Amino acid sequence: MNILLLGSGGREHAIAYKIAQSPLCNQLYIAPGNAGTATLGENVSLDLGDFESIGQFAMSHRVEMMVVGPEAPLVDGIADFFASQPLLRNIMVIGPSRQGAMLEGSKDYAKAFMQRHAIPTARYQTFTSATLAEGEHFLETLAPPYVLKADGLAAGKGVLIDPDLPSAKAHLREMLQDHKFGDASASVVIEEYLNGIELSVFVLTDGSHYLLLPSAKDYKRIGEDDTGLNTGGMGSISPVPFADKAFMKKVEDRIVKPTVRGLREEKIPYCGFIFVGLMNVGGDPYVIEYNVRMGDPETESVFPRIKSDVVQLFENAAHGNLDGCKLEVDPRTAACVMMVAGGYPEGYRKGDAISLGSDVDSTILFHCGTKRDSEGRLLTNGGRVICATALASSLPEALLKSYNRCQTVEWDGKYQRRDIGQDLLKLMQGN
Ligand code: AMP
Ligand code: GLY
Repeated sequence: MNILLLGSGGREHAIAYKIAQSPLCNQLYIAPGNAGTATLGENVSLDLGDFESIGQFAMSHRVEMMVVGPEAPLVDGIADFFASQPLLRNIMVIGPSRQGAMLEGSKDYAKAFMQRHAIPTARYQTFTSATLAEGEHFLETLAPPYVLKADGLAAGKGVLIDPDLPSAKAHLREMLQDHKFGDASASVVIEEYLNGIELSVFVLTDGSHYLLLPSAKDYKRIGEDDTGLNTGGMGSISPVPFADKAFMKKVEDRIVKPTVRGLREEKIPYCGFIFVGLMNVGGDPYVIEYNVRMGDPETESVFPRIKSDVVQLFENAAHGNLDGCKLEVDPRTAACVMMVAGGYPEGYRKGDAISLGSDVDSTILFHCGTKRDSEGRLLTNGGRVICATALASSLPEALLKSYNRCQTVEWDGKYQRRDIGQDLLKLMQGN
């Protein structure tokens, strides 16, 4: 079949990498894609906000399946648009309806959903500019640090964690009255701080049944030892060593099952990924957030471990047939190290020439922000540029291979964290 994949990051390169391995895939189109996806299919220049053009492309190229990488088109209702058009409604769409995508599009909606279905999460309340005084009062009932979340999508920047009450109150006013995050902070969720270690759990669901995909941990801060500004993610490890059988059973029983059951009970059409951001608080999982897509760079360590045919799984998901499907997973550890442009996540340059060097260890380079110029030269084209994923029978070995591969990749101003996975190694050694 012909498949259209929407997106242009490392996540999409990793999804394309698996789709291209499937004998069920005839032609793969990636919109808009990057220099990495161009080696696996045909990049097409489509605006992900222009559903009409995406639909027209899908019809004229006999696309039978569309896989949606990023959240924005889902929150804007691309799945509903396809379902509403007689000529598009038979295309399998991997990505939830607009209502399902609200789990990521509105923190308040997600928290209320969790509350309705008794899914463990931090205690919270939501406030608007009309209830600012109540919000300040609620802050006074909590212990520091204080967690403030813009309700809507804010490009991953909408969460503030304040060490003291005065700064939390000031930020609350800035969000609600001064529109710090534009419309996204017209409502603000204030919640209890959860003290623990984070991990990401991924689910593929057809809306009734689900498959648990491998877990992963990502590294959000720009600086080593988790310091400095938040980024899209500087690396990832899969599986997460502390997410053992007992912990994952709690995750499944307390979180995944009630989430999928809740979607079904509330008749929310959902065929796609659920990315559950979790905090492990003393051995018990709590939901920090839902995303309605795969993570980036988690996909770059999770997808290379999936041995099953992902196109077959997507087809089963689209037809409501995920029950009885088994997921075959490579037991080895995957380590992904992200290489970024100097200055990221603040101002950075694009257009630097990249030299990839050569691979010695069967590592995989997933492209994130890259493109080729008219002469075919590979150039940087984003903050996160390229990442190296290695699989090995142990975490130290996977890290060694991945870092060795990073050393061969060069461009002016390249930066990477040197401590990806070190926290997990310490944890495994019992320190
Ligand atoms: P989110 O955008 O909801 O993933 O939040 C961004 C980051 O803020 C998360 O990855 C956590 O590190 C942190 N965070 C969010 N909510 C909480 C919480 N209730 N307690 C502690 N940390 C949190
Ligand atoms: N790596 C976190 C995310 O994709 O949201």
